[in-house]
Amino acid sequence: MKLVEKDDSTRTWRVQEASPNELYKSYEMAIKVSGTTTASVTISARFVSAIKNADDRRNDIAYHKVHLLGATVRDVLNFVVAEKIGRKHRIDEEVDISRDKLWGIMGNFNDVTWIPNASFAQVSGDSKNITFSNDPNCFGGHGNVDARLVWYDSSDWLMVLEYTGRMPTKFYREKIQLFSTGPNKTRVTYEYTALPDKDETGETFDKWFIPTITNRVAYLKKMFEDEFDDGDHDVSPSGPPSGPPVFPKGAYSTLAQGRVNAPVKEVWKVFRPFGKDCLEYWKIYESMKIEPPGKDVVGCVRSFVTSKTGSHIKERLEWRDDINHVEIYSMLSMTPPPPVTMSNVYTTITMTEVGEKETEVKFECTFDVSVSFAVSRIQDNQKGAYMACINGLQQLFHSEVGTLEVVVGSAADLARTDGWFDADPYVVVAVNDGKPVTTKVCSATQKPIWDERFQLPVTSRTRNVIFTVLDRDTVGQDDIMGTANVNLDELTSGKEKKMALDVQGGGTLNVRLYLKMHDKPKEPEGEKLVTSLAIPFLAPVAQSELDAIRNEFTNLITSFLGPGQKYEYVYMQRLRTHPDVPLEEYPAACVPMPTQEMFTPHKAGRLMQRLMEFIGSQAQIMVRLAQVKGLWDPWKANFSGYLPANERLIEEWQKDEEFCRQYLQGINPMVVALCKDQSRIPAEMLGLKGQGKTTLQLMEENRLFIVDYAPMLGVPATPGKFFYAPIVLMYKEELAGGKSRLNMLGIQLTRDKGKNEVYSPESAKTQPNKYMFAKMHVVSADNNVHQFLYHLGYTHLGMEPLVVAMHTHLPPDHPIHRLLLPHFRDTIGINYLARHSLVSRIFPITDPMFATSTVGGLVMFLNEWRKYNFMDMAFPEELKRRGFDEARSDGLEGYFYRDDGFKLWNVYKTYVTGMVNHAYADDRAVQADKALQEFCKMTEGPGQLNGFPREIPTKKLLIDCLTNIIFNVSAQHSAINFPQYDYYSFIPNRPAQLSSPMPDGPNDMLQSAVLEALPPPQFTSLQVLLSYMLSMPSQTAITGVEAMKEVYPDVHERFNTQLLDLSKEIKARNEGLKGEGKVAYTYLDPENVAMSIDI
Ligand SMILES: [Fe+2]
Repeated sequence: MKLVEKDDSTRTWRVQEASPNELYKSYEMAIKVSGTTTASVTISARFVSAIKNADDRRNDIAYHKVHLLGATVRDVLNFVVAEKIGRKHRIDEEVDISRDKLWGIMGNFNDVTWIPNASFAQVSGDSKNITFSNDPNCFGGHGNVDARLVWYDSSDWLMVLEYTGRMPTKFYREKIQLFSTGPNKTRVTYEYTALPDKDETGETFDKWFIPTITNRVAYLKKMFEDEFDDGDHDVSPSGPPSGPPVFPKGAYSTLAQGRVNAPVKEVWKVFRPFGKDCLEYWKIYESMKIEPPGKDVVGCVRSFVTSKTGSHIKERLEWRDDINHVEIYSMLSMTPPPPVTMSNVYTTITMTEVGEKETEVKFECTFDVSVSFAVSRIQDNQKGAYMACINGLQQLFHSEVGTLEVVVGSAADLARTDGWFDADPYVVVAVNDGKPVTTKVCSATQKPIWDERFQLPVTSRTRNVIFTVLDRDTVGQDDIMGTANVNLDELTSGKEKKMALDVQGGGTLNVRLYLKMHDKPKEPEGEKLVTSLAIPFLAPVAQSELDAIRNEFTNLITSFLGPGQKYEYVYMQRLRTHPDVPLEEYPAACVPMPTQEMFTPHKAGRLMQRLMEFIGSQAQIMVRLAQVKGLWDPWKANFSGYLPANERLIEEWQKDEEFCRQYLQGINPMVVALCKDQSRIPAEMLGLKGQGKTTLQLMEENRLFIVDYAPMLGVPATPGKFFYAPIVLMYKEELAGGKSRLNMLGIQLTRDKGKNEVYSPESAKTQPNKYMFAKMHVVSADNNVHQFLYHLGYTHLGMEPLVVAMHTHLPPDHPIHRLLLPHFRDTIGINYLARHSLVSRIFPITDPMFATSTVGGLVMFLNEWRKYNFMDMAFPEELKRRGFDEARSDGLEGYFYRDDGFKLWNVYKTYVTGMVNHAYADDRAVQADKALQEFCKMTEGPGQLNGFPREIPTKKLLIDCLTNIIFNVSAQHSAINFPQYDYYSFIPNRPAQLSSPMPDGPNDMLQSAVLEALPPPQFTSLQVLLSYMLSMPSQTAITGVEAMKEVYPDVHERFNTQLLDLSKEIKARNEGLKGEGKVAYTYLDPENVAMSIDI
């Protein structure tokens, strides 16, 4: 602009644009001052616009009319006040907070938390009315002032305000500007110009006004000093000095709290808006808005509608403390009104930093209510609402809302970190606190070209992509060469952006970024549950409540107990849904259940207690699910104080060694076999190698082991569930020091005529997820085979005919009755329960749980039962068929089921031999025992215990037969029953079912697909519950058997001593294992072996 006219007589100035520009072809402005006692300033502009677009042109003209000319007049006024007639003052203060964060507060026109004593502001356009509490230090005790935004420039961190209305000045303007002086330091310059009221001199005005403004800036400084003070926090945190107003405290209160895995400031930022923004995380409301004038400040009222009941509720924001992260609101009304009258309903939300990335959110509500019986109902509803908020916040911070594709291209002019030498640069890319990815290392160059592409998940709260350039050092830590950041706000979804980033530290980094936002946040598994189940929130169950329920149940059972009844066979009834499956071929059962076979009240009480512990634990599962972090954590949510986690297993389960170890020491040690027969090995698996040896070489060296899930072949499929009949090959891996262990060769899931895919540690190098999924299919098959065949079939159901036959034909004083009685304790009772629940013909609860469904599991057992032979299944025989013997000629280490089993078998055999030798002089005495022979006939005939000798002519057979019975109902059942909780409670280790088959094609599957195939945590409660209930330790261990104590005391003594010696031996071995950091095998320690199938 150039001055073209200055006329002192008319007090007129005229300025002109020197030459046309893109906005104006010509531009002239005139300023005229008139008046004598008061000055009047007139400014006018004349211009010819150069703006072609009609709308833009109109906007520019409007801007002149509405803003520019008026602002210029005020600028003139401000100049006059500042330089001629009024007062001006400037304060500089350094504040301990980053400029961005401080601007986030001060630059927010709605926010008055940084102004001392300001309680709230009502904003309308560029004006706001600030209410101050009546404090004499603040603008002379004036209650309200009006402020108008004159100038606002975020890029310059600059804001100019004029205060009008009830100010003790004729004119007041303040200019606030922020300058960054460090990562967490900002210099605030605060300048004001003021024209005091006419009855006040400039000096008296300065005397009180300068301290007022100085105090305001000092307050700002103190606010953040406290916030970043790492020292003593015993001093109560500083909020606005006046603190929250005192609210009436109701007689009742509700408390809910939970954690959100994000920094407290970020959680607060999201939570803070009082209006419709809450719907983003508080999903139980249909709509929410702040009532007119619609300003989100203390005193505003929000009204919302609940989705579930459609109630309209109004709440007022009573207090908000952004420093301490506290909010208080009160309930004003509810339509339709609740059936009871509620009053003084104040809710306080407090957010506390727990860790750098964790925030505890606490809701506390106090209220009064007209009738006290409604209190718990109200509390439940409130807790539900509060937990929905906490869970929603958690979900918001951890939902994937998009993906970011990053291409790390090249870099130039990077700083030198190794003196003369060129660096070996690589880049680590992370989206905020997400999992970082790393490029390859470019060797010996300052101009690296990586050209690598990554895909990173973007969560809703993500703001920055951080690139860190590092120099790979062979010795010591890698040096940081520099960093560069990109704010995601700079990117447009669906558009690729090429960027040359300045590396802080020196140089340029060339990247390409492509942001793709989903339409809706993608909810990870587990979090879905939180949304759907968060409302019916249960409080944890107290121990005293558990005891009371147990006692009540015990008393109930006691009242049913009556005199004994007859033992009779009945055949299993066909499933209502599958009348074609002939379940009557199953081992016979006992019905009706004789009352003396019922559980003792004590045992029923213990079972009930365990059930209640489980329920008590499940009550909090939503809270735990809301806190999940890791990939497998949703399934860890099943664990609690009542239900402990097998931490070691959770650490190790994905490893091959652990997978193999479980075949020897886990829940199902019944399937591994030494492979000596090439025809058992599928052709596709012949190429597998272990320690450089081929499958056949390993077989030659007695080092090849096989698991063949052939029983799964005949199982009918159920829609939505997928299973295979896998074949697993393992080998004995020779370790240093003459040690060895079982390790993995490979898995083949299918048995098709064409080509079958084999998954192995080798294939895992390129397809790690497929390999893991193949292993999961194996353990899922194992779970089904273990439960239906070995556990339910061969032990529980298979042994029941013996109990009925014994009570029918062997009188109570018969030595065999005496011998067997303790070993049949509770078997009919537990089987009765299983038949009426787990495999009930009407509503079998195993149906949704297992891959085979109930019918598939029962068909599998039926197929195998048709081939079953009781005597062939005797422990030594069964092991021999799988290639194992007492001498451990198989050379396999750590097969403790085999080691301890043989020892226990021998103790049993000595015991039974002693008894038989006492009771029967010779074979003829056995043959002459009619009761015994009838017992055999009944068991094998109507009892349908296949392979049981129809008659027993020799003492030897009698000994073998009785040893087999006792071993099967005690040691065998204990070995495959009690490890259930240890191995089944963490679902990924042994899922009962998977919902997808192995994907075809040459590519690896996504890890998310593996997770999706697992039953989600809410459907796994039954597996956890069953494993917990059925692992309830027996209170009648084999060491407590006294069957022979009175009749053959020597037999009893020897049995007892041998058992205790064996227990000591096993305990010592286990101590040694623990010392080596290995897992102890405790299930066949006689002190842990139940004398009967009693659970
Ligand atoms: Fe069992």
